[in-house]
Amino acid sequence: MSFKSSKIAIVGVGNVGATTAYTIINQGLCEEIVLIDVNKEKAVGEALDMQHSIFFMNRNINVHAGDYDECKDADIVIITASVPMDPNATNRLDMLSGSKRVMKSIISSIMGSGFNGILLVISNPVDVMTYYAWKLSGLPKNQVIGSGTTLDTARLAVEISNLFDLDSKSISAYVMGEHGDSEFVSWNTATIGGKRLIDVMNDNTERVNEESFDNLKEQTIKAGWEIFHRKGSTTYGIAASAAAIVKSILFNENKILPVSVYLEGEYGLDGVYLSAPTIINNTGAKEIVEINLAEDEKKAMDASNDIVKSFYEALND
Ligand code: LAC
Repeated sequence: MSFKSSKIAIVGVGNVGATTAYTIINQGLCEEIVLIDVNKEKAVGEALDMQHSIFFMNRNINVHAGDYDECKDADIVIITASVPMDPNATNRLDMLSGSKRVMKSIISSIMGSGFNGILLVISNPVDVMTYYAWKLSGLPKNQVIGSGTTLDTARLAVEISNLFDLDSKSISAYVMGEHGDSEFVSWNTATIGGKRLIDVMNDNTERVNEESFDNLKEQTIKAGWEIFHRKGSTTYGIAASAAAIVKSILFNENKILPVSVYLEGEYGLDGVYLSAPTIINNTGAKEIVEINLAEDEKKAMDASNDIVKSFYEALND
């Protein structure tokens, strides 16, 4: 007999794909990683470079370049591929037409292999691309997840932790909705060490005021652009977010992460991929948690719904 080994395929081995692979290797999350890219030589080069790093790691991982037929027995396929981003871009939704074309051919190749695992979409605009991947793949909704606002939630926690000089992991505050300009923070449910964030703010008026909420949200939204306009892409944050999702799937952790999921009645919305706290385990998106949104937060969720859905029609042509 032999044990089934865990295998991840990464489609798109640019900055995000390669860094995601390397983060997964560093954390020793699986036994095999296949790197797939239209530029085969790049995939081979990245794989070779990563193979040498394994000598210094805690766990042996078989990392190699490969083709789509290798997706057949993958537990997770991570899609990071997209067209190169315009250096002057200011909105992830501008990437739609290029990403759409790439996604169509990728999904057909992945599904052609007989893949029946969990698809994790990172390509932007991630909410629209995850919906498109779900539609084209025919996979059940729990098996198709977008990285969504997992990264934005980390960015917000870092901003809040700087404000109060705390460990960011002691902060629980979800960024939800679209991974983009219309995203919002559920201040109503945010806590620091069990104390409502709203109360923390009110009890520390010498340090924070009403504007602090808006500033924190603005800084969170702007964070990706602050990085992109300086170094041309964001890599470590998104790679670590993807690794956290992968870990919760492969280790059946049931961790709650705000990934982009298909809403079917949750939050009063229907037929749309948006981010909401979700229990992630080896079935993928096991259950969407419906947190208690304040009225303005519910409106913000509706606004994200309208924006993201307005791009669905363009997916048909
Ligand atoms: C970012 C990319 C992943 O926000 O959209 O860093």
